[in-house]
Amino acid sequence: MMKNIYVLMAATFFAMASTAMATPATDALLAKYKSEGVSKIDAAKGKADWTKEAMGEDGEKMSCSTCHGTDFSKAGKHHKTHKVIEPMSVRVNAERFTDEKKIEKWFKRNCKDAWARECTSQEKADFLTFMLAQ
Ligand code: HEC
Repeated sequence: MMKNIYVLMAATFFAMASTAMATPATDALLAKYKSEGVSKIDAAKGKADWTKEAMGEDGEKMSCSTCHGTDFSKAGKHHKTHKVIEPMSVRVNAERFTDEKKIEKWFKRNCKDAWARECTSQEKADFLTFMLAQ
């Protein structure tokens, strides 16, 4: 009897995880952003922000898509070093969004690269939700 309940719980968990593509790291981060005041997450805003150009830290017009592209199933390329950036989609790249510290580190660095400032918790929550749906 107990065993059946565990099997059912595991099945429910995997069903949920596979539709939302969330990871424990992204669940933890979204909870953190909510604790920092984010009440409504807007994936469409994240999508619009992804290609929004601003003057980056080194004086060039940049957006997230400058390095990551707009097709999340394909690899991107760093605009300067030309180093390949593995695909951002969790569907094709199982290593994506699995480490809370790594995600925060790159949000910080990349928002400065693209927009010459750090992103707000709201912007990060919108980006993350948009990215997980790709
Ligand atoms: C100058 C090039 C560049 C720009 C512009 C850029 N990124 Fe990145 N991004 C990278 C690199 C390089 C990595 C680290 C390598 C990797 O994870 O494959 C990375 C990694 C990330 C990660 C970590 C993903 C993970 O699996 O943990 C996130 C989140 C991210 N970027 C979001 C953004 C967002 C949001 C923007 C726009 C505000 C952006 N990036 C703009 C180059 C860039």
